[in-house]
Amino acid sequence: MKHLIDPTDLSVEEIDSILNLALDIIENKEKYSEVCKGKKLATLFFEPSTRTRLSFEAAMMELGGNVLGFSSADSSSATKGESVGDTIRVVGCYADIIAMRHPKEGAPMLGSMVSPVPIINAGDGGHNHPTQTLTDLLTIKREKGDLNNFTIGLCGDLKFGRTVHSLIKALSRYEGIKFILISPKELKVPDYIITEVFEKNNIDYREVTTMEEVMPELDIIYMTRVQKERFFNEADYVRLKDTYILDKSKLKNAKETLSIMHPLPRVNEISTELDDDPRAAYFRQALNGKFVRMALILTLLGVNV
Ligand code: NCD
Repeated sequence: MKHLIDPTDLSVEEIDSILNLALDIIENKEKYSEVCKGKKLATLFFEPSTRTRLSFEAAMMELGGNVLGFSSADSSSATKGESVGDTIRVVGCYADIIAMRHPKEGAPMLGSMVSPVPIINAGDGGHNHPTQTLTDLLTIKREKGDLNNFTIGLCGDLKFGRTVHSLIKALSRYEGIKFILISPKELKVPDYIITEVFEKNNIDYREVTTMEEVMPELDIIYMTRVQKERFFNEADYVRLKDTYILDKSKLKNAKETLSIMHPLPRVNEISTELDDDPRAAYFRQALNGKFVRMALILTLLGVNV
């Protein structure tokens, strides 16, 4: 039985096959509409979500399966003091596969150690978000045609942003990718990413504090929200939240072929004036999230179509 806790739980070949399956699903939706008949997905969200939970649920429904679960810790037995391990053991009696989000780093990993069914990490604290990464990879593949040889600027809260951590880990295994890390000094990527990912694998990376200085180089700009819920101090959040706002003027020197990505939700990081710019890929990215989760569910359940 396979779980997805960290993006590197999947090899590059396995990711490739999930992305190709997602592309086939996009082309042949009918073929997949009944393949999970009788199967159940449980979504256990101990932390808020719109896209991730609903795209998981929509994914399972489009495969002909059913969904059950809860969308906040308040409506689960966590409020009575039940441990994550016990919740997972119990839900594993009712569902064939579980997608779980939790504010504590490592909670889905803990769950996977006792789970009788596959567990998917749908975000654990400021740590990882591997299904957002699959979404991002499918988006890059569809927008750019290739997962190798480009320069990506990751901008915003690189300290607490779990989507960024997972995306860096996953992309570090492809060829010819240059990473430009754009953040205020308080929100730089954690040291373990620098040493364990960039330095260990001899990857081309650079840290800067403004997007203007690097805009002409970028093939992709990946904007992120400052992660309010991870701050200890409201004043720090208020001071940092609007550090980067991408708008038309900032794109003056950008490539015509730039792709603008954002895992969403957006707060102020991208002006709505860019929403109709053909380079704005973020809503297409959200749609890709459903298709890639369909492919992931099929893969982890071992359903062959
Ligand atoms: C992200 C998350 O939950 O980490 N959202 C998502 O799943 N698309 C990004 C965020 O909340 O900023």
